[in-house]
Amino acid sequence: MDAVEKNLVFMATANQQGMPNVVPIGFARPLNENTILIVDNYMHKTIKNLEENPQLSLIIQDAKSFPYQFKGTVEIFKSGKYFDEAVEWAQNVMSELEPKSAILFTVKEIYSVKPGPQAGEKIA
Ligand SMILES: Cc1cc2nc3c(=O)[nH]c(=O)nc-3n(C[C@H](O)[C@H](O)[C@H](O)COP(=O)(O)O)c2cc1C
Repeated sequence: MDAVEKNLVFMATANQQGMPNVVPIGFARPLNENTILIVDNYMHKTIKNLEENPQLSLIIQDAKSFPYQFKGTVEIFKSGKYFDEAVEWAQNVMSELEPKSAILFTVKEIYSVKPGPQAGEKIA
């Protein structure tokens, strides 16, 4: 989870027809041991996919050092404490940012993507 905050992450979503979509994301940080806050500044297909299919898989850019694949579900907030936290965080980094929503990712499963015999194994 610490690595999520320090690295770029890649978010994979899918629409209802199963068409996959993956994007790099900088604003992702853990709130606790199984929840990650993600800031929607520029999302189009990603947020549309999550609205119709609230499932997410995420990997860390530096997968060589952090070979983890996260899977879970999301809730989308356009106001309230998670949205306010997202706005404050984004604007502290870049004052011109105007987040459209805050995505709360509840991690339900973690798999290893480490090459070798344990690749794909569920680790949490
Ligand atoms: C290095 C990098 C970091 C990015 N970080 C974010 C981010 O934190 N939030 C965001 O909404 N978009 C971010 N983007 C933009 C998204 O990757 C993507 O362009 C946007 O979601 C539109 O693609 P989509 O239509 O597939 O959603 C970032 C892009 C790059 C290249």
